[in-house]
Amino acid sequence: MSRLSVNVDHIATLRQLRGTKFPDPVLAGYLAELGGADGITIHLRQDRRHIQDRDLFLLRQTVSTHLTLEMAPTEGMLQIALKSLPDMVTLVPERSGENTTERGFNLEQEASEIDPILIKLQDAGIEVSIFIDPTETNIRIASEMGSDFVELNTTFYAECETFEKELEELDRIEKAAILAAKQKMGVAAGHALNYRNVVNVAAIKAIEEFSIGHSIICRAALVGMERATREMKDIIEKASRL
Ligand code: PXP
Repeated sequence: MSRLSVNVDHIATLRQLRGTKFPDPVLAGYLAELGGADGITIHLRQDRRHIQDRDLFLLRQTVSTHLTLEMAPTEGMLQIALKSLPDMVTLVPERSGENTTERGFNLEQEASEIDPILIKLQDAGIEVSIFIDPTETNIRIASEMGSDFVELNTTFYAECETFEKELEELDRIEKAAILAAKQKMGVAAGHALNYRNVVNVAAIKAIEEFSIGHSIICRAALVGMERATREMKDIIEKASRL
């Protein structure tokens, strides 16, 4: 059964909007776990526009499932990861001023920047995942680098405007997932997934974990964190039985 890691960044976005102490992503993480989340994910951005260092260190103490830290592969972020010791780090490309993560890594060009950070994280006992666009080349390079996991970028799929394009993207994701699993890497997928478009991706057997934030937090604003998590988890579970 595929796992669901709930990204609680946008609880922090709401808090930062007014500079208040609430809503607290630490509590949101707890409620997501009550709703059946298999893990909690946060992205500590270099501009600290939503998640703060304090959130990471508190979540490290309170998350009882699996804590994933998304971060840019920089020396500064590495030091924070080594101090906070999340269960997994997902390395993501970050562009200052971007609205959200805009792309996965292109490892043909970017592996050398990532490699030294990946090794130091693994030496400290932290599992590493690399957020990549779903191409064969990226998978092969991630495997050569010794990455524990890859997270396949689902944005292209989510943004398809025609059914034909959507089928093409799903096929690309499935092939990448199967290849990554063959190379003995864990396979996650995420970005821009919601309660409708997740179904087709969750039916891909080779994907073990989904990292989903924005759509769950938006629903949580109306129905509560626990229920929003439970509803996403149920959809993923049903789809993985297809
Ligand atoms: N995966 C990665 C690598 C991300 O950067 C993000 C956004 O922080 C997500 C998944 C979750 O994306 P969304 O908020 O669109 O569900």
